[in-house]
Amino acid sequence: MIRFTQLSGKIFAISFFVIISIVCLSCCEQRSTPKYVVGVSQCSDGLWRQRMNFEMQTEQVLHPEIELRFRQSDDNSLLQCQQIDSFISERVDLLIVAPNEEVGVTPAISRAFDAGIPVLVTDRRVIGDKWTAYVGGDNIQIGHLMGDWVRSLLMTEQIKEARVMELWGLPNSSPAAKRHQGFAEKIEGIKQIRIVCSACGRWLPEDGERVADSLLAIHPEVNVIVAHNDEMAIAASRAVRRRGLDIRIMGVDALPGEGGGLQALEQGWIDMSAANSGRGDLVLRLAIRILEGKPFPKDTLFPSALIDTNAAMGILMQADLIDNDAAAIRKIRQELYELGSIQQMQQWIIIGLTVIAVLFIVMSFILYRAFHSRNMARATQELQERQLRKQNRQLEVMTAELAQTKAKVQSEVDFMQRLTNEIESRLSDSELDIEQLATQLSMSRAGLYRKIKASTGQSPVALVRYIRLHKAQQLLEKGDATIQEIAYEVGFATPSYFAKCFKDEFGMSPAEYQKSHENKVDTEEG
Ligand code: FRU
Repeated sequence: MIRFTQLSGKIFAISFFVIISIVCLSCCEQRSTPKYVVGVSQCSDGLWRQRMNFEMQTEQVLHPEIELRFRQSDDNSLLQCQQIDSFISERVDLLIVAPNEEVGVTPAISRAFDAGIPVLVTDRRVIGDKWTAYVGGDNIQIGHLMGDWVRSLLMTEQIKEARVMELWGLPNSSPAAKRHQGFAEKIEGIKQIRIVCSACGRWLPEDGERVADSLLAIHPEVNVIVAHNDEMAIAASRAVRRRGLDIRIMGVDALPGEGGGLQALEQGWIDMSAANSGRGDLVLRLAIRILEGKPFPKDTLFPSALIDTNAAMGILMQADLIDNDAAAIRKIRQELYELGSIQQMQQWIIIGLTVIAVLFIVMSFILYRAFHSRNMARATQELQERQLRKQNRQLEVMTAELAQTKAKVQSEVDFMQRLTNEIESRLSDSELDIEQLATQLSMSRAGLYRKIKASTGQSPVALVRYIRLHKAQQLLEKGDATIQEIAYEVGFATPSYFAKCFKDEFGMSPAEYQKSHENKVDTEEG
């Protein structure tokens, strides 16, 4: 019983442990095993990249089947290649790459593509065709917008002649090359517009400020600065202010947020910008189409537009609203997610409790059966013991009765032996009567009569006669004496009475008996 209780205790403990593990695993599982892992390799950090990542994360809220893994390489192509290689070894399902520059990052992207990972190139392009899709700003259009703006300065007679400083992004990155190309296309042949100097600011504010300052020192005639992004435009604006110059400045990106182009426009640091956001939402949507095997465009270009101070103020207000909405959506999604987790946890708890209840019922049944069969066995054993005791008692009674009967029989035998001996010792006495026998056997006449009658069913006279006749029978068979001699020897007063009694007993006369016995002996011997 103790072993049984220990066993059921163990079963309960194991079941409880298994249920708790299932609940924990299922909860963890829900958080850590989405269907697709998407690696996002950004070439740098900063407002533009952070915003793009934020847009992707907001879109991901609608796609819980996607896990996003972000890495950024601080404008370092070598580091970006290493990060792409680590995504390859992690066997991500898809790679989104914004390459730092074309030549340096192309080999790593080709490796990912060759490893069978779909590669979605964004923002900046790569060399060759080992990539799955491209999505990014229309940089030629952005260049055109830069040209349009400079032309508008002339048309609105803000300046008579544009002596332009062009601040480049990384020359080995496609947006820089294309923005320049678009700008050059738009100003080509216009005499009043001249690029008097240009330098590479590598997309970075520090470099932009440094090179702008140097160029301003050499080219004080510059009255227009076009920078390939807002960060460099704002940085150049600082150099311009330091030098107390009056220069129109345009950048690219027009981002909301602290340090973004919209704020710079609003605060008068720059005069114009061209819209160019990373559109993380669209990038992720395209990635999901690729992952789901749906048709997708190989090349997607986002259109741009000129953003002046007024537009910037309007957009900033809208951006605020949009950002609030996005934050609210993310919060709601998070709450829904947590609610879903709680609901799932509750489901598992219900399943767990049901399992425990079923186990409990099964255990109770087993315990009941064990108790029941133990009681049954005990009852059967008690019954058997009672029966055994009863049989023992019966046996004792029977044994006692047997002993009594045996003693009675023995006394009967003894009595008959003594009686027979007594009768046989006086067999030839024809006068032998019951009186004499009673005296010999120390009994009363009536007592002897009753005893003989009870033991043999015959009267004493008949018994004596019976013994006489059977002795006579033996003597006849011996054949040593005559019938007459035998009659007297066995106590008959007359041979004729002997013959009569003999015939009554054996169905034939003594002579006939003697004869038949002799014949029988002869036959046996012969
Ligand atoms: C951000 C950035 C943007 C620019 C883009 C070009 O890293 O420099 O300002 O528009 O990259 O790739």
